[in-house]
Amino acid sequence: TVGNATNIFWQELPVGRLERQKLLNQKGCVVWITGLSGSGKSTLACSLSRELYTRGKLSYVLDGDNLRHGLNKDLGFKAEDRTENIRRVGEVAKLFADAGLICIASLISPYRKDRDACRAMLPDNNFVEASSFWMVYMNMPLALCEQRDAKGLYKLARAGKIKGFTGIDDPYEPPLNCEMEINEKDGVCPTPGAMAGEVVSYLEEKGYLH
Ligand code: PPS
Repeated sequence: TVGNATNIFWQELPVGRLERQKLLNQKGCVVWITGLSGSGKSTLACSLSRELYTRGKLSYVLDGDNLRHGLNKDLGFKAEDRTENIRRVGEVAKLFADAGLICIASLISPYRKDRDACRAMLPDNNFVEASSFWMVYMNMPLALCEQRDAKGLYKLARAGKIKGFTGIDDPYEPPLNCEMEINEKDGVCPTPGAMAGEVVSYLEEKGYLH
């Protein structure tokens, strides 16, 4: 029995991860970007994806907002819905990494246990490969995100017109074990290029970009 299903069997597939990686000349991994709404997750994801493309590396962005238009359109923002949202995206990210892509997941992913569960899904120190899941924390103060309020959602949340908004009346639990943290300096966020550059350096260091 797996989950709610019985009588299911794992089917071995003819082309393996290492063969795909060789074909694509790259290694699959997951860059998981977490942070408040308006903290710049999507900006980093887009800039990083563009930079990787320029370097001839195939990536794919899994954006929380976008996935809620399709795969996750049955989910809202209650705690259990967010948990299921993160679980599904974690599973999809795992498939994309297995396919050989640099998968960039950009979701608020506010709860620590849900992010940790995604990390635990990816191969980690399994003697074949070192960790292939990296977390980037967009550590932007709520005040800064709220001041930007690009979508006007903080305003609605403050007015009580959106209930359970992250950072206002729903918690955001900062990561304790992230690989990278993006911070503001004197109330200013780094440019998209600078943020992407930090992640690219990290990927380079880990041997994912040659
Ligand atoms: S989560 O918490 O990880 O499941 O959220 P995610 O899938 O990343 O979706 C976040 C985007 O949904 C919009 N939105 C809300 N965010 C937080 N709380 C509430 N209640 C909410 N309602 C709608 C918001 O535009 C988020 O987009 P980003 O890109 O993060 O600003």
